Formats: sequence, structure tokens, C-alpha cells
Amino acid sequence: MNNYTDEEFENIIRPILEVEEFNRLKYITHHGITRYDHSMRVAYLSYKVSKSLRLNYQEVTEAALLHDFFLDEVDQESRINRLRMHPECAVKNASKYFDLTDRQVDIIRTHMFPVTFAPPKYLESWIVDFVDDIAALYEKGYCMHRQFRTAMFLFMFVVVNFVKMR
Ligand SMILES: [Fe+2]
Ligand SMILES: [Fe+2]
Repeated sequence: MNNYTDEEFENIIRPILEVEEFNRLKYITHHGITRYDHSMRVAYLSYKVSKSLRLNYQEVTEAALLHDFFLDEVDQESRINRLRMHPECAVKNASKYFDLTDRQVDIIRTHMFPVTFAPPKYLESWIVDFVDDIAALYEKGYCMHRQFRTAMFLFMFVVVNFVKMR
């Protein structure tokens, strides 16, 4: 399911959404939402930015959607391992299903720069790296906001009940 109602965007991403393995991302939590939803957000924003800059937005959109295509290959216990290793896992997984261009490999491989050391070679890779950071900040902020709201609700519930009991 996606909420992005742009026909061209939907046509670009359709072949990827048809891959069963990719749909497993719907069951993995990432920045407080699913990795699938995070990837969709990064793909859509990258699509918009690269299209407005008249770049090859099809290539960018596909790579952006695949940038976090990893399941449980990465050591989930170690945060730094997960941050550093997952782009390579995503390249490997994406290559199983799609013929990636050099630019797409670079987009996926360097999307965690500077956490991973090699810098992006292409403008398109910088765009996805930047968009991914913005999406992650937004998602983490949204998640914290929800947790804060829930905590406030529980606090108010306890206070109201405490007052009633007196
Ligand atoms: Fe990532
Ligand atoms: Fe990401």
C-alpha cells in the first residue's frame, strides 16, 4: 500500500513493489515506522527533487527505494555495524533482482556517508543521502512526538483517576 498518488512515480516503483522479498520490509521497524514506509518516503522525495533538477529521476527513484533493502543480514545488536554495513547488503539484495547502473550502485552504497567513509560520486547520490537524512530526522521526531503524547495521556489518566479517588 502506498499513499503517493503520482502516476509516474507509481509506474517507476511498480516492478520493485512486485518483488516479494522487498515486501518483507513492511514487517521491519525502522525509525519508528516500517522500513518499507521509510523507503517509500525517501523514494518519493528523491523523485521530486531529481525531477525538478532534470536529472535521471527514474534511476534515482529506483535506487532510493532500494537504498535500505536489507533484512536481517546485518548484526542488529551493534548499531555502528548496522549503520556501516547495511548499504552493502542493500546493494547485494537489489542486484539479485535488478540490473543496477553504476550510478544506482553508488546511490545505495554511499547513502550513509559520512558514516560510511567513501563519499558519493554523483550528484544523484548526494541527493538521496541528504533526503534520507531529512526523512530519518522527520520520522524519529514523529516517533518521539507520538511517544510523548502517549506518555502525557497515561499521566493525565493517572492524575484524573487519582483526583476522583480522593
Ligand atoms: Fe540506510
Ligand atoms: Fe534510509
